[in-house]
Amino acid sequence: MSFVTVTDVWQRYGTRSIIERVNLEVAEGEFVSIVGASGCGKSTFLRLLLADETPTRGEIRIDGGKPAREPGRERGVVFQKYSVFPHMTVRDNIVAAECFPTGLGRFFGVKRRAARARADETLERIGLAHVAGNYPATLSGGMQQRLAIAQALTARPRILLLDEPFGALDPGTRLAMHDFLTELRSQTAMTVFMVTHDLSEGFKLGDRVLVFDKPRWDPHAPEAFGATVTYDFDARDDGVPYQHILDRYPTLAAQ
Ligand SMILES: Nc1ncnc2c1ncn2[C@@H]1O[C@H](COP(=O)(O)OP(=O)(O)O)[C@@H](O)[C@H]1O
Ligand SMILES: [Mg+2]
Repeated sequence: MSFVTVTDVWQRYGTRSIIERVNLEVAEGEFVSIVGASGCGKSTFLRLLLADETPTRGEIRIDGGKPAREPGRERGVVFQKYSVFPHMTVRDNIVAAECFPTGLGRFFGVKRRAARARADETLERIGLAHVAGNYPATLSGGMQQRLAIAQALTARPRILLLDEPFGALDPGTRLAMHDFLTELRSQTAMTVFMVTHDLSEGFKLGDRVLVFDKPRWDPHAPEAFGATVTYDFDARDDGVPYQHILDRYPTLAAQ
């Protein structure tokens, strides 16, 4: 059964078409990787999934519900740049995520102590317990990104949206993050959408790999048409023409 249902979604900014005719059915718990040329609308598509923007046309339904008008706790998001609060300790970053949007100030006494205990459990799980009292600036890039993911997970979202989450990390840290994400997945039934500029990462982590591209192109009006899903691969299928995709999209090779 379809959990995330995208029906004929288009997105335009003024006269510019960014995305057109996207139709998609994603089952609960599926991990969908999204690849495509830079600027083709991948982040825009994630913003639509987040309900941070409403599509120009079409609709996105989660679990058969009404299309959302704004982001809610059921959708968590992590961007490439660390989106943690620099003026809070690692632990308070998790506590703050839990009491969003009311704010830390409204969260005191027994409730706050309970939230701190839960935050410490989360930090234990992601291997950051030893730096709970530190500020984010003192952490490595990989640790900050783990904190950002833990923050997004604190609200227990049913959908996790990752926009090139490991793009700024060195190759070793990226591999460690792959293991971390794989482990998290085995512990939750989360549905994940991950944009990546690395095709091999998309195939390694995803159950499915979607390629976004512009099937229609008018050299006299380059902004007339948007991108859509041109390929939808089963990442577990050994017969996927991996080399063919790389030949066509050389920038998607591992960097
Ligand atoms: N809010 C916006 N208003 C106008 N143009 C936008 C907006 N957001 C993105 N764009 C444009 O849409 C195109 C796709 O952007 P984006 O989704 O960020 O691509 P990608 O993530 O695939 O690199 C880009 O040309 C970008 O400049
Ligand atoms: Mg982007």
